[in-house]
Amino acid sequence: MTMAFKEMPDRSSKPLPPTVTPPARPLSLVQTLRAARRNVLEIIPALAYRQPMLSGRLGARWHMVQDPVALRRIFLDEVDNYPKSEVMLRMLRPAVGDSLFTSNGESWRWQRRAVAPVFAQRNVTALAPVMTATAERAHRRLSGSGGKAEMVAEMLSATFDVICEVALSGREHFDADAYADAILRYFETAGKASVLDFLQMPDWMPRPGALLGRGAVRTMHAMVSRAIEARRGQAGGDVDDLLDHMLKAEDPETGRRMTPTDLIHNMQFFIVAGHETTALALSWSLLLLAWHPEAQARAREEARAALGGHAAAGAEHLDATPYVKQVIEEAMRLYPPVGLLARNALKPDILAGREVLPKDTIFIPTYALHRHEMWWDRPNEFNPDNFSPEATEGRDRFLYLPFGAGPRVCVGANFAMMQAHIILTTLLARLRFAPGPGRAPVPTMSMTVRPDNGVWLTIERI
Ligand code: HEM
Repeated sequence: MTMAFKEMPDRSSKPLPPTVTPPARPLSLVQTLRAARRNVLEIIPALAYRQPMLSGRLGARWHMVQDPVALRRIFLDEVDNYPKSEVMLRMLRPAVGDSLFTSNGESWRWQRRAVAPVFAQRNVTALAPVMTATAERAHRRLSGSGGKAEMVAEMLSATFDVICEVALSGREHFDADAYADAILRYFETAGKASVLDFLQMPDWMPRPGALLGRGAVRTMHAMVSRAIEARRGQAGGDVDDLLDHMLKAEDPETGRRMTPTDLIHNMQFFIVAGHETTALALSWSLLLLAWHPEAQARAREEARAALGGHAAAGAEHLDATPYVKQVIEEAMRLYPPVGLLARNALKPDILAGREVLPKDTIFIPTYALHRHEMWWDRPNEFNPDNFSPEATEGRDRFLYLPFGAGPRVCVGANFAMMQAHIILTTLLARLRFAPGPGRAPVPTMSMTVRPDNGVWLTIERI
């Protein structure tokens, strides 16, 4: 399939951010399998960007839902009828077991109660100095990069720094490169293999990715468990990080605590989820700003005014930089790091006037929802004012779901936003970004929505 990315923008015109060309109508089974191996976004048909709901059958019955009323039902009002898709859980469990993200029912409920306080705003704000120090390091690396750098690698390094620091108080138990490499291998193998599962293809069909993914999982688990062991060995220390909170976490209702395996799985998930998604939000933000010098200038002016003489942004500067936050929100509208969610229906229901039967697979293509013609004005353009206070007032909450919604909303959303906001404010105050060499990257999803050939930008110190 051809991609509709636009050539590098002519500065005088408003460039359209790159996207995929969706298939005109739902794909056949073979086409779906082929497309999904290349790019999961390519299985979302053009109609999903125009209609509230699509349905079909590919092995199993499926629906794609883009209607805010139906989404509210799935995520909130009838949430018990729409647990996370069993197939998705099966594919993630080898890596993250029955962790918060991958459990349903009672197993999910008690973990959520135990973990939620760890991410309460006040705890997250206490982590801001670590984020500020990381932003400083990212700035130093970029200023020393010789005027050109690839942003995904840079931002992954920055957010990985933060998560290692706040999750495990440091990197000493990690070979960061080996870990990052294992994550990528896992995404590219297990993530792609999963589409067969979603379509409920029989188990005998080969899933070549699954085997390759297993080695990556072993590597990641060994590294995380070494870090946990090291921490247990430092009993009585004065550390106050995520692992420390998790070691103490307890279900307020039952007093239940995490087993060592629960800990490994949850920490593993935090480390992967806590840096990859945020790094992508930052990379896409920088790419969009590089193409829109006027938006970049506005964000920079705001950042510099807020920072004044400060070296780098901290929690205290965030209220004074609302436009920088709008840029991140708009980047996650155009490129939601998690571009497709999945659920299963347990009981019959009606969504957007259509019948849903037990066991049907429900896809929520946030990528299409965020570019939907019915809900967004000029949906494919970059416009951070989509998130100005006036624009967001009265907007249906279920039209914008980068972090999901309802009781299963991302537990790390505050953490992610604060981290991205601090890093972007710091970088914009000191550096100017412009499009680098090469073609525009195409958003490509296996598990997360990544720019296929990275984000090369030129960087100028101010
Ligand atoms: C920009 C960054 C991030 C994005 C876009 C993102 C996105 C999401 C989304 C869409 C969900 C809901 C999935 C569903 O309903 O199927 C989710 C859940 C979750 N996220 Fe995030 N996330 C981000 C950062 C983080 C961070 C920093 C952490 C932790 C350190 C985290 C931990 C989790 C957990 C544990 C869940 C499962 C919550 C539950 O099921 O109760 N995420 N995230």
